[in-house]
Amino acid sequence: MEDRYGRKIDYLRISITDRCNFRCKYCMPEEVDSIPHDQILSYEEILRICKCAGLLGVCNFKVTGGEPFVRKGCMELLSNLKKLPGAETVTVTTNGMLLGEYLPELKRIGIDGVNISLDSLKEDVFREITGVPGLPAVRKAMMDAVAMGLRVKINCVLMRGVNETEIPEFVRLSRRYPIDVRFIEMMPIGYGRQYAAIPAEEVLSRIREAVPDLRSIDEKRGNGPAVYYKGSGQQGCIGIIQAVSHKFCDSCNRLRLTSDGFLKLCLYYPDGVDLKGPLRSGASDRDLTDVIDQAILRKPKEHRFGERQEIQEQDTRVMSGIGG
Ligand code: GTP
Ligand code: 5AD
Ligand code: SF4
Repeated sequence: MEDRYGRKIDYLRISITDRCNFRCKYCMPEEVDSIPHDQILSYEEILRICKCAGLLGVCNFKVTGGEPFVRKGCMELLSNLKKLPGAETVTVTTNGMLLGEYLPELKRIGIDGVNISLDSLKEDVFREITGVPGLPAVRKAMMDAVAMGLRVKINCVLMRGVNETEIPEFVRLSRRYPIDVRFIEMMPIGYGRQYAAIPAEEVLSRIREAVPDLRSIDEKRGNGPAVYYKGSGQQGCIGIIQAVSHKFCDSCNRLRLTSDGFLKLCLYYPDGVDLKGPLRSGASDRDLTDVIDQAILRKPKEHRFGERQEIQEQDTRVMSGIGG
């Protein structure tokens, strides 16, 4: 369905857990109290919401966390989402640490894409960012996924003085393998507020140094806000996600479901609707669909990152609870 600004809403990002096995500096740097189990939606409840959203035209589902694979049964949820009538794409965004063991099953159910958050290709830097010596496991899972023919994208959030010098190394990865590497501007959400975003223009000029014949790509390569580029002889693309400096809000197609059953209408605003309440007090599918329908009509026009940060700062949810 369309919201009141004429945007077609067809993409639901589902955070199935706020827990994570990494402690990324900009996301969940320290132990935080995780949401108690009984507050987290069951997989049956998530599937019901997806079915109702599907009745309104949502056909692309992204499973995120925290880290989705730390929640038991994640694979079964992905498989059931694939079977949902009307589901066109089901993808997952993971830190890759546990990915290896699930690859055969992901392939079997026909997952439409796996996004791996990978901010450094250097073991010491990887450990400094994530708190975990996990680079070899993540690299192996990434290469195995590519060898199996899965569609793999990398998310690299750039940080000044931490990983910005690795741009050419990441670019090389997209040349050698059919992997889309996406550079993301740090968003001032939760712990990310402590970092300044490296503007996309600067990132693009560094990419151009490594790929002089870089050209932009028009084809659609997913449901997210990345814009893509390619140089000759490259197997994968290079993507830029201008999460802060560029407003892709006029073509926003998405809603977010948090693991505790809150439907978030925009990353920037704390606003949204509670779906867990109605779900647990006997709402019919029809009632639930109506609640989602009404929520879509309240979706804000655009974010105000960089201009009016104070509204975002009222949001008590950190990124691990929102799912990116
Ligand atoms: P695909 O390309 O279809 O796989 O989707 P995607 O790029 O939406 O997925 P992913 O989970 O890998 O997200 C990549 C980055 O884009 C994350 O840093 C998200 O926080 C960011 N992102 C996704 N949607 C939005 C959005 O609506 N606004 C902003 N500012 N950032 C977003
Ligand atoms: N800004 C931009 N991207 C972020 N992510 C997590 N926190 C932030 C932030 N503050 C990214 C993760 C993951 C994706 C879902 O969101 O690195 O790849
Ligand atoms: Fe959509 Fe809000 Fe993201 Fe803009 S900031 S693209 S409106 S979710």
